[in-house]
Amino acid sequence: MATNRTFTMLKPDAVEKGHIGAILQMINAAGFRIVAMKLTQMTTSDAETFYAIHKERRFFPELVTYMTRGPIVAAILEKENAVEDFRTLIGATNPADAAEGTIRKLYAASIGENAVHGSDSDDNAAIEGAFHFSGREMF
Ligand code: PPS
Repeated sequence: MATNRTFTMLKPDAVEKGHIGAILQMINAAGFRIVAMKLTQMTTSDAETFYAIHKERRFFPELVTYMTRGPIVAAILEKENAVEDFRTLIGATNPADAAEGTIRKLYAASIGENAVHGSDSDDNAAIEGAFHFSGREMF
């Protein structure tokens, strides 16, 4: 089943602006089943660990500050071809480059505050899901 799952976070800006419902509606309408979901807030240590692969990038401190400033919605989603289809649904990292009708085109303000995360591989989807959820929280 791991190859049919992806992990997402509705990021602090999306939560602050009241977009949780609208984004979840798009996710459901696109055919994803919610396997696990919670409202939570990452600590600095959490964000540094979650984004460790990006720690040498110049925007890393900004990314950690942004991702810890308020609650997020973390979720595991299931669908055939979940990772790729979810990346299509959310659109390009920079909302200026995102296709019309994508979540980032509709709800993201900038590359630094881009509303939603989607895993970039099946392996990372499993790692990221396990970072936020125990087996008992997955349905
Ligand atoms: S990706 O998703 O891996 O293809 O995109 P990438 O460009 O490698 O970006 C990795 C994560 O870093 C965030 N990011 C930024 N944050 C702040 N400022 C700038 N300039 C910036 N560029 C990229 C980007 O949103 C990715 O976060 P996630 O949560 O993985 O979407």
